[in-house]
Amino acid sequence: MINYLELSGVGIEFDTNGSKFRALQNVNLKLDKGEFVSLIGHSGCGKSTVLNIVAGLYRATEGGVILEGKEVLDPGPDRAVVFQNHSLMPWLSVYDNVALAVDQVFRRSKSRAERRDWIEHNLALVNMDHAMDKLPSEISGGMKQRVGIARCLAMQPKVLLMDEPFGALDALTRAQLQDSLMQIQAELGNTVIMITHDVDEAVLLSDRIVMMSNGPAATIGDILPVGLARPRDRLALAEDPEFVHLRQQVLEFLYAKHGHPAGTQAGNQAEAAAVSPAGTRLAAVAKSDAAVDSPEPGAPGTAAA
Ligand SMILES: Nc1ncnc2c1ncn2[C@@H]1O[C@H](COP(=O)(O)OP(=O)(O)OP(=O)(O)O)[C@@H](O)[C@H]1O
Ligand SMILES: [Mg+2]
Repeated sequence: MINYLELSGVGIEFDTNGSKFRALQNVNLKLDKGEFVSLIGHSGCGKSTVLNIVAGLYRATEGGVILEGKEVLDPGPDRAVVFQNHSLMPWLSVYDNVALAVDQVFRRSKSRAERRDWIEHNLALVNMDHAMDKLPSEISGGMKQRVGIARCLAMQPKVLLMDEPFGALDALTRAQLQDSLMQIQAELGNTVIMITHDVDEAVLLSDRIVMMSNGPAATIGDILPVGLARPRDRLALAEDPEFVHLRQQVLEFLYAKHGHPAGTQAGNQAEAAAVSPAGTRLAAVAKSDAAVDSPEPGAPGTAAA
């Protein structure tokens, strides 16, 4: 089971208006089957780029990705992606949005009736079976995100790739979805790579937290194993010394070791924030709510809240 998914020597250079921009350099990561790995790092460091390379949406300039012994060259249903903002087809019902993916993967191997049961089963997993006939415009943001997750789970991908799946949600909905995801993953044993800006979320959900250095030429700075027993209970963990220590280690990586480098635009902003009385956001965020570059400075980290 070792090296179910392997990124080796992955680097990428983008061509932008004739000049080259090196986003990633020498990214090496091995995942076991059923492992839950989070990617965390400052905005713009290259997390989505890593995910897009694993998804087969971007081609690495150097190195590559091997999934179950086969090189990843294209997107495929064995690697389903959950985006931060759901990507449902607005003209299709909740049911039909999932059906689209299920038909693509199981048209040959499952009968019509089996596919219907399977769609309903996956919607039930995320508690959305009551709203199967609604359109995306008729359901809330959290509900849309659930449907996006059901759609990916229904494809039975080898790897579930999640790019800030709960980033746009309020704290309570986010906590609920984190709990559902933990349950589903415990049941199905999915292999997951999840990008998050939320330190508590990373510690709560992950087997390992991959912490990325800042770009350009970003790479993996450190990998933190999370040995907390499962199932994990957010309330019990909030005061668990091991949980608190792990959370502290991630915060230290992000703010002490890998604050934005001086001389970059982000670094200058961070410095300005550090000296501005109104702009102590990074430090305040680091202390209080453990969200990294959260879109709303006050957005609470939820896991241990
Ligand atoms: N298609 C592209 N063409 C050119 N540059 C790109 C492209 N995609 C990403 N980049 C650059 O690569 C770097 C990493 O981007 P990426 O989107 O992976 O960051 P991120 O860590 O996901 O950030 P965020 O947390 O804000 O989502 C950025 O400097 C970005 O501008
Ligand atoms: Mg991103």
